[in-house]
Amino acid sequence: MARVPHEPVMAAEVMELLAGRRLVLDLTLGAGGHAEALLEAGVERVVGLDRDPEAVREAVARLARFGPRFAAVIARFSAPPVRKGIDGALYDLGVSSMQLDRAERGFSYRLAGPLDMRMGPEGPTAAELVNEAPEAELARITATYGE
Ligand SMILES: C[S@@+](CC[C@H](N)C(=O)[O-])C[C@H]1O[C@@H](n2cnc3c(N)ncnc32)[C@H](O)[C@@H]1O
Repeated sequence: MARVPHEPVMAAEVMELLAGRRLVLDLTLGAGGHAEALLEAGVERVVGLDRDPEAVREAVARLARFGPRFAAVIARFSAPPVRKGIDGALYDLGVSSMQLDRAERGFSYRLAGPLDMRMGPEGPTAAELVNEAPEAELARITATYGE
């Protein structure tokens, strides 16, 4: 299937809040749409992180033209590798279009794919969890994350 880039949905609001900053940490980099808009708006430097290596690869290719003004790291937002000097931070929580539109990632209702649903390559797949996790663990996951 053709690749559909993720289109940031709140770019205008993000620009309004962060455009004048010097160093912004984008903790959910995805395909780099917000990071690109921030760099174009004159933010001196953006450091982006995402736990999905595919997203980071995509963003690095997209934002190469900004040279040292942009850096990307594969990491979880619960453990950001940079804290010093940051004067703006952005969380755009959820899944990205890239994850939804790639059948092999297992998030799509539209496309047949394996029951994977991982944000990155590590950890158990959804298929392994539902087939192998003890009932109490499934109950905990459902109660904690099922809203
Ligand atoms: C809605 S997308 C972000 C799209 C991005 N703002 C853009 O303009 O392209 C959310 C991203 O958060 C990432 N993500 C989800 N959980 C994460 C976590 N715990 N740590 C870091 N990134 C995470 C996903 O892999 C996904 O790429």
